[in-house]
Amino acid sequence: MTVRPGNWVTGSIPSYSVNRVVDLFCGAGGLSEGFRQAGYQVTVGNDNDPDACATFAANFLQARTIYGSIRDHGIRGEALDAGAGAEVVIGGPPCQGFSQVRNHARLIDDPRNSLYREFVRAVAHLRPRVVVMENVPGLQQMGVKEQVLQDLALDGEYQVSAQLVDAADFGVPQTRKRLVFIGVHRSLGASPPALGGTGATAALDLARRNGDTPVYYELSGRTLVAPSLLERLLDPEDLGIVTASQAIGDLEWLRAGDRADERSLEELPTAASAYQRLLRARPAGVIRNVSVPRMNADTAMRLAGVPQGGNHRDLDEALLGRYLTGQKWGPSNGSGRLTRRHYYAYRRLHPSAWSWTINTKADSVYHYLQPRALSVREFARLQSFPDRFVFTTDSRRGMRPGRIDGGAAHSRYRQVGNAVPPLLARAVAQALYEVLPAAAASPAVPEAAQLKLLTDGPVSPARAG
Ligand SMILES: C[S@@+](CC[C@H](N)C(=O)[O-])C[C@H]1O[C@@H](n2cnc3c(N)ncnc32)[C@H](O)[C@@H]1O
Repeated sequence: MTVRPGNWVTGSIPSYSVNRVVDLFCGAGGLSEGFRQAGYQVTVGNDNDPDACATFAANFLQARTIYGSIRDHGIRGEALDAGAGAEVVIGGPPCQGFSQVRNHARLIDDPRNSLYREFVRAVAHLRPRVVVMENVPGLQQMGVKEQVLQDLALDGEYQVSAQLVDAADFGVPQTRKRLVFIGVHRSLGASPPALGGTGATAALDLARRNGDTPVYYELSGRTLVAPSLLERLLDPEDLGIVTASQAIGDLEWLRAGDRADERSLEELPTAASAYQRLLRARPAGVIRNVSVPRMNADTAMRLAGVPQGGNHRDLDEALLGRYLTGQKWGPSNGSGRLTRRHYYAYRRLHPSAWSWTINTKADSVYHYLQPRALSVREFARLQSFPDRFVFTTDSRRGMRPGRIDGGAAHSRYRQVGNAVPPLLARAVAQALYEVLPAAAASPAVPEAAQLKLLTDGPVSPARAG
């Protein structure tokens, strides 16, 4: 495995750290997974979505999963009791309201935004050594960031920073900008650590070429350091900057409409990149979450007109009609043409670049080679979840509090699309080694054993306190 700066996953890991973590709004557990990989012990996860809770519970066997709204007095009490004494509180309160801010009044009125105050309330109760809160960059607008910084500081008890990062700079094969708040308790006498990545997203760009030839996309550099970063990006052994094909190239054989959600590992070709080896580590005999949605004939026609790395901008006039093959599907908009609402739906990956930002819908990106959407597993690979991390749902049918309608398949995509990429979370967790004293030695931390499998190499010796 190549070890270079920015290869977060090869950094040193304290094998005995028992810094305990409480994850609020835990979702499937992307943030928790990163902390676990960095050697922390995730003890509590709370979410009000029963399906996300089922996934969290299935993947964090040692943690207590608490299903229910944090606004509920009883649930909040249960989470706070279970988390008493935790050194670290992490969380990603829902962000819909912040992501499309139109005016300040709406922002304040949006009940979804008040959930972050529940996070602050929990921090005020638990008084952990360190706090990490993740959210969308839209939160930087209109003074909200300043408000959050102030709230999380708890009248000077915590020193808090807000850093805008892109997951692709931390070995995630996807551009995904996020605002990360880190609060450090003043008793530690330290400032929040800086999150340094490779800087690849600032230096490299997928440029649209439009000359005599049909439109195509290719990587180009914006800065002087770009050539070396491009070389790293294209090196399949480099874990610091990762392309879409390095991430999912071993699943290219999946086809639209494949229904089997579990396949034998024997069907997979040999891993062709360090990233595939990393995420495939841990033999389980099968690879899960690999079924692929069907595709309607109109979408297939349109995608054939989009080059790798392209999007709706590349569609010929003839492909912009609402219905192409005569088959009526989805709601008609009366105009006979695609509207802006459809635009995000025709984003095709480029094999030699990181992915577009994925969202909670299966059609948010399409495969670079095959005319198809991605399986949940490919979504998860683009989010840097290891293959051993399985996405599931609560088997109880029907509407339950916190469940978002749309069915089990949609729920799995949503859980992945909502998550913090574990490798980004892991980089944050590793940066915190700087400020967190290592806790007392514990010979039997299950996470450490998992890390050994994940890192494909020896777990480093215990860090000095
Ligand atoms: C952005 S997602 C969190 C993703 C998670 N940090 C991860 O990395 O996988 C926000 C989560 O907040 C949960 N949520 C929304 N309202 C809630 C509430 N009232 N109480 C608890 N959780 C809630 C949602 O179900 C969703 O899973």
